[in-house]
Amino acid sequence: MQRLIPVLNKDHVPLHLISVINTLLTAAKEISHRLHQGSLAGTLGSTLDENIQGETQKKLDVVSNQLIKNMLLETNLVRAVASEEEDDIVEGNPDAKYLVAYDPLDGSSNIDINGSVGTIFSILEVPDHPAEGKDMFLQTGDEQVAAGYILYGPSAMLALTTGQGVRMYTLDHTVGEFLLTVDQVKVPKDTREFAINMSNSRFWNKPIQSYIADLIQGEEGPRKKRFNMRWNAAMVSDVHRVLCRGGLFTYPADCRNKKKPCKLRLLYEANPMSYLVEQAGGRCSTGYERIMSLQPTDIHERVSVIMGSSNEVEVCLDYHKKIP
Ligand code: AHG
Ligand code: MN
Ligand code: MN
Ligand code: MN
Repeated sequence: MQRLIPVLNKDHVPLHLISVINTLLTAAKEISHRLHQGSLAGTLGSTLDENIQGETQKKLDVVSNQLIKNMLLETNLVRAVASEEEDDIVEGNPDAKYLVAYDPLDGSSNIDINGSVGTIFSILEVPDHPAEGKDMFLQTGDEQVAAGYILYGPSAMLALTTGQGVRMYTLDHTVGEFLLTVDQVKVPKDTREFAINMSNSRFWNKPIQSYIADLIQGEEGPRKKRFNMRWNAAMVSDVHRVLCRGGLFTYPADCRNKKKPCKLRLLYEANPMSYLVEQAGGRCSTGYERIMSLQPTDIHERVSVIMGSSNEVEVCLDYHKKIP
């Protein structure tokens, strides 16, 4: 089985970009190790702190964030990092070319129940036009040069794109390396599976309420087929299922909290996952616009997310067109 670096070399990925990706994976191996140790490592449970997102931080949110940040900045190949767990960007080498935005631990509510979690990353280049500080990160998803996630499940897996399709690698603990296990990931166009947190249904907008209501009517409803629902409460794990066997994943806007109608973050979650899903032939939208075309105005910006099997996303978007 092939190791990651020779595969990236064959794809002519620039050497410094390979180093940045490899550094993220070194941090991921350490996170994977700590997750495997569970209670034995003394890192389960919450801190007393709240992050900029208004969420109570788990100890592993903080540990993972520090590991990734420190390792990336030590490479001298990174100009700055932006993280779900940091209020502001953290600057590195002023002459470096790369910017990394990341969600150090996705699905943190699963940590204490030994459920699947992940790390999501998005790599951008420093823009040509003069930009300083946070503004450097305010680029559309189309400008990403690489994106991926590491899923810490029964095995640790990496899904990665550098714009030449999506490959998956599995961490071989015996050699400490990610080995190529799926060469060209393709999301089937049609599906009978969807992923959504149904408990929020009373807060959704009309198009999503109507679309999901029709799905769960099964054969008797307008869709005339039975749909199954899956929800792991970790975007990495739910989107991994979509990449493996199709499906529609959505975290739509809702009216629980007027100030924050959307949950998922554009830079750390929606854009990198969209890059993977589109590179695997799927489709990604807010319901009204393609996610990777959005111009961010803030590093912590949130968006409504609908992604997955292209024909199914299309059906969901029709509801948004027809229903005000
Ligand atoms: P994070 O743990 O990085 O804050 O992200 C959590 C997100 C995402 O992983 C998942 O899809 C969603 O929150 C789960 O939300 P519910 O609590 O509504 O299930
Ligand atoms: Mn969080
Ligand atoms: Mn997340
Ligand atoms: Mn997180």
